[in-house]
Amino acid sequence: MRLRPTRSEFQIAALLLLALWTTGCVRGCRSSRPPIHFNPNMDDQLKSEAQESSDFFYDGRAMRDPVPGTVARGELIEDETVATGKDAAGDYLTGIPIEIDDALRTRGAERYSIYCAPCHDRKGNGKGVLAERGGVPTASFHDEVKFANYPDGQLFDTITNGVGLMAGYRYPISTTDRWAIVAYVRTLQQEKRARDQALAGN
Ligand code: HEC
Repeated sequence: MRLRPTRSEFQIAALLLLALWTTGCVRGCRSSRPPIHFNPNMDDQLKSEAQESSDFFYDGRAMRDPVPGTVARGELIEDETVATGKDAAGDYLTGIPIEIDDALRTRGAERYSIYCAPCHDRKGNGKGVLAERGGVPTASFHDEVKFANYPDGQLFDTITNGVGLMAGYRYPISTTDRWAIVAYVRTLQQEKRARDQALAGN
């Protein structure tokens, strides 16, 4: 058995090493070229991704609206009054139709800070970024005229379907969470009134 490589075997090995050194890449080294993809499987497909445009649909959006009547998992609210904020006669509910316990109260405050505070401000005075930077008049929850007769059901409906310049939050915020936000907006209003009364009393 011959153990020593011959001269030409050396040359081939050296050439291979040279080829690897000039073309290959070891772990951690940088390259502006895409990595070699030996087995593409279905990684690259002809498909639409979220928020992409599409020539296929008349409105130019690749994303489609859910089929009317679609119900997300865990979101089946059989009670129409809870789902719409209106009673059988179509009038806005004057109260909150679900029980708001401490956990839901905390959740309402949290959801408010995520979904409403950017525009309506942490305190609910409507002085969020939209008003500050865009000059867009944003409702203050302490506007006594607007909220003198503004039932809980209407507040719920505004969050669900939007009003005027404000978009609806039916999809991003669950029904229960929307009622929790209604409770929190009421808390903000009561706290402001109590503060004003305390100040007037002094
Ligand atoms: C992107 C900014 C923005 C966000 C976020 C937003 N709003 Fe509004 N909201 C507005 C603007 C602007 C108006 C004034 C709309 C108009 O009069 O055209 C308004 C108006 C309102 C009104 C008064 C509606 C009426 O009947 O006149 C209520 C109540 C309200 N918002 C509640 C909420 C609650 C609760 C949330 C959180 C779930 C929320 N908004 C999130 C911008 C926003």
